[in-house]
Order: sequence, then structure tokens, then C-alpha cells
Amino acid sequence: METAEIARRFLAFFEKNGHTVVPSASLVAEDPTLLLVPAGMVPFKPYFLGQRTPPHATATSVQKCIRTKDIEEVGKTSRHATFFQMLGNFSFGDYFKERAIPLAWELVTAPVEEGGFGIDPERLWVTVYLDDDEAAGIWRDVVGVRPERIQRMGMDENYWDMGVPGPCGPCSEIFYDRGPEYGADGGPAADEDRYIEIWNLVFMQYERGEGSGKDYPILGDLPKKNIDTGLGLERLAAVLQGVDNIYETDIIGRVLAKAAELTGTRYGDDAEQDVMLRVVADHVRSAVMLVGDGVRPGNEKAGYVLRRILRRSIRNLRLLSGADAFHMHELTAVSIDAMKDIYPDLLDKAQMVHSVIDAEEKNFADTLRSGTALFNRAAERTRAAGGATFSGADAFQLHDTYGFPLHL
Ligand code: ALA
Repeated sequence: METAEIARRFLAFFEKNGHTVVPSASLVAEDPTLLLVPAGMVPFKPYFLGQRTPPHATATSVQKCIRTKDIEEVGKTSRHATFFQMLGNFSFGDYFKERAIPLAWELVTAPVEEGGFGIDPERLWVTVYLDDDEAAGIWRDVVGVRPERIQRMGMDENYWDMGVPGPCGPCSEIFYDRGPEYGADGGPAADEDRYIEIWNLVFMQYERGEGSGKDYPILGDLPKKNIDTGLGLERLAAVLQGVDNIYETDIIGRVLAKAAELTGTRYGDDAEQDVMLRVVADHVRSAVMLVGDGVRPGNEKAGYVLRRILRRSIRNLRLLSGADAFHMHELTAVSIDAMKDIYPDLLDKAQMVHSVIDAEEKNFADTLRSGTALFNRAAERTRAAGGATFSGADAFQLHDTYGFPLHL
């Protein structure tokens, strides 16, 4: 099933079940505590906190998201992306667990001919928060999931918050078993690569305060009990398209194939090159979407996130092709073409997106030239002094002033 069709089905299912379809908000967060939108619920945060009255009691959306916390994992695992789309259904004090759980199960397992995703229930496992007997009971008694397929996990896995003060709550996740060739038996508690998380149902009912990681105080109950869910579109596409990882799905896969063609490499030939090709495919798409939403390369905040993503793509392309070639224009064009069915506005913005990305590629090429000269001088100095370790100060200058990614 194509990625665009998965998104269409998701929205149609929740619309049929009374939800208002809300278009994706911009990647640039309105929320002052965030730079970029990392989850589908961000535009609805004021409704959860009771700061604003929602215009509808329930909603559904496909939200554009950026997460760069795990940028080093991109391309190495089957599922890490800097840009992804989160399908979600939301209840603002309307229904709670008793409806969210059966709805999710219905959509995932309903036959394809009936509008569902047609996943065999035998492939599915679920997790709930440690003491969430209510959710476990619904999975077991209402949905009919076998008790041994319901696992309980702690705060790290089954409690969701925005990473900043705001709404939070225990969650329950649906996992897809990719089969014994991907890892050990034993469910998601045993192996998160074999059992991949596809859908997170968050029971938003508390407010968290300041703190880091999972170490924060619960300030109290939210005014109402809410639902926030997030289903990773790219992950589900990988499952439904029967491919190994998100980079090989219909949309990202097109950019990957083009990157291989342009750099004269073959995907599947060499593990290290494959990682670089997957990084390029992911990053080019993220850059296109960020520029489309008005972000410009810069040295701080969202501009720096974009610059870093662009420079990592350009650098990887040069390593792959072994030459100072300029490939971003063609890759940007493929990425826009692959995404235009879901985001038709990209076509109107194509010219602008190209000019920003082309200019940054040129800019980085100049930087690489001057930075490489500086690198060579510093390396000579280091060697002349009998050292074998590049100094931290030189590395910092290359990184900070010349925008060299550290691995460079
Ligand atoms: N807000 C939840 C998440 O991002 C659904 O996983």
C-alpha cells in the first residue's frame, strides 16, 4: 500500500468515526518551548492544558514532524528518520481509553477491502504502562488480545511527555512482529528491532513540571482526560510494503535510488555506503520540508538544524561519489516529486526550495575548500609537534566556524 494511501485511509477512518480532519501545521512550532514540531499533538497542546477551547471535541491529522535527537542513528537502524509524518487521532475530553484502543485495533486489523490496513492480528503485540490495569483489561477483554501478548513496561517506554513541561500520561503501544529472522522471540520487551512499534496511544491526563529526562514532578490532573495517538506513517509503510526499513519505502526509496544513480554507487553492495545513501535520502527530504515551511540555513536554532541536515547530505554525497559533485538540485527535484501527492503546495514552492538548497550547497562547497586548507595546516602543526591527536580547539573551530560535521 502506497504511503499516500495509508495516510488517506487513516484520515478517512477517523473522519467516518466522527473526527474533524485537521491539516498538518507548519514544522516551525508556534510553541515557544520548541523549535520544530516533533509530534502530532503539538498544535493541540493548548486544548489538552485547558488553555483554549477546541473547536471540535475530536480531531485527526497527518502531522509533519522533525526529530534530530537520534540523527546519528539515521540510516543505521531500520526506522530512524529526521523527518517523518505522524498520523494521529485526538480526543479533547471526549472519549478515553475505552474507545481509543478498540478504534486503533479495528483500523490496523480490518481487511484492506474494508478500508483497513489488513494486518494479521497474530503479528501484533501490545504494551501498557506498569500499573495500567484498565488499558490491559480493554486489550484483553474488549479487543481479545491474548494475555501473553500484552506486556507491561515502565516510565521509559510507556509514559509519554513532550520533553518539556506540558501534558503527559501513560501510554500503550502496538508492535508489529517482523518475524524470527529479525531477532529473538519474547515480544517488544525482548527485542525492539524485531518487534517494531507502529502506534503509540497516549492517555493524556496529567501535567508535568520542569525536569530532565523522565525525572520531573507530576503537577496534577489535566482539566479533562484526553487521547493523543501517533502512528508512524513511514514505519507502517515499511510494514505494508514488505521492505526492511523506512528508507526503502515508496517515497524515501525514490530519493535513495536517485542518490545511488547520481553517485555511481549500488545500494546493497556495501554496508557503509548503504548507510550513507539512507542518510542522504532521509536528509534531503527533511531539508525540502523544512525549507518549504520557511526555515533558512543559519547558525542557530531551526536554521542550524537545517544547515546541519543539508551539510550532512552534501558531505555524504561527496564521499559516495568521490568527487566535488553538485547533486542536491536533482535530489531535491525527486524529493518534491515524491512528496507532492501528500503536500501539493510543494509544487508552488519548488523554485524557492531549489534556490535555497542550491545556494547552501554552493556555500558549503566554498566552506569545505577553506576549511580543508585549515585542516591541513592544523594537521601539519600537530605532526610537526610530534602529536597524533588533532586538538580539541582546532576541531571546535572547524565545527563552529566552518560547519564541518564532527565525523568529517
Ligand atoms: N505524542 C505521542 C508520540 O509522539 C503520540 O509518540
